Amino acid sequence: MAREQARRIATAFLPAQRLGNRRDYYYSRGKLGSDPLYPGVLAALDEAPALPLLDIGCGLGLLAHVLRQHGSALAYHGLDIDADKIVRAERASTRAGLSQATFTCVDVSATLPAHHGNVALLDVLQYLPAAAQTQLLNAAATRLAPGARLVIRTTLADHSGRDRTTRITDMLAHLVGWMGTRPCHYPDAASLRAPLDAAGLHLRMTPLYGNTPFNNWLIVGVRPTAA
Ligand SMILES: C[S@@+](CC[C@H](N)C(=O)[O-])C[C@H]1O[C@@H](n2cnc3c(N)ncnc32)[C@H](O)[C@@H]1O
Repeated sequence: MAREQARRIATAFLPAQRLGNRRDYYYSRGKLGSDPLYPGVLAALDEAPALPLLDIGCGLGLLAHVLRQHGSALAYHGLDIDADKIVRAERASTRAGLSQATFTCVDVSATLPAHHGNVALLDVLQYLPAAAQTQLLNAAATRLAPGARLVIRTTLADHSGRDRTTRITDMLAHLVGWMGTRPCHYPDAASLRAPLDAAGLHLRMTPLYGNTPFNNWLIVGVRPTAA
């Protein structure tokens, strides 16, 4: 994403006071400007039907801002287990005047709200145990409308150098306090593919390395429309 676009979105994360904490501002500005995630997700959603998007593990809700800046009017519902991030996401969304954007604090390994539309699951799977990942992928797939997209970004366990770099960085993010939860299981391609194939989705898996050293992949599942 262009630097100016990233800066404009990050402005919503500035503190209310001039000398307040600017962590979210610098984090979002840096992430939006450097991570190939958002152009990848936008491209995947461009052909999706104009139905609501459930963003599972939404963090600060950056995707809602990116969608609006891109001109997308998809209704957005972000879910995250971190109550403080949800409060900060809501505050920034209100400040940016995002319409049809809501946020809920919930543990998605325990429950997922009713939904019929598109689903995003970005950099979340590794924080759940293996069985919970499969359960969540099943639950996400059943919430897709015909023609809708399930867009996943995840690292894949494949014992590569990129895989190791990703694991170390995730652990550091936890140790410095950015991530409240620690990664507990990295999925491999087969364990990710199995429940989505079984749910009848058409899958596309492509590397999303960009200029990063991480082993990130973009997985797009499409629920076929009835013949
Ligand atoms: C690396 S961040 C990704 C945030 C966002 N998807 C993005 O791409 O900017 C992972 C997020 O998953 C959330 N998370 C981890 N375990 C979760 C759970 N069991 N239920 C809901 N959210 C969870 C974390 O709180 C964190 O905000």
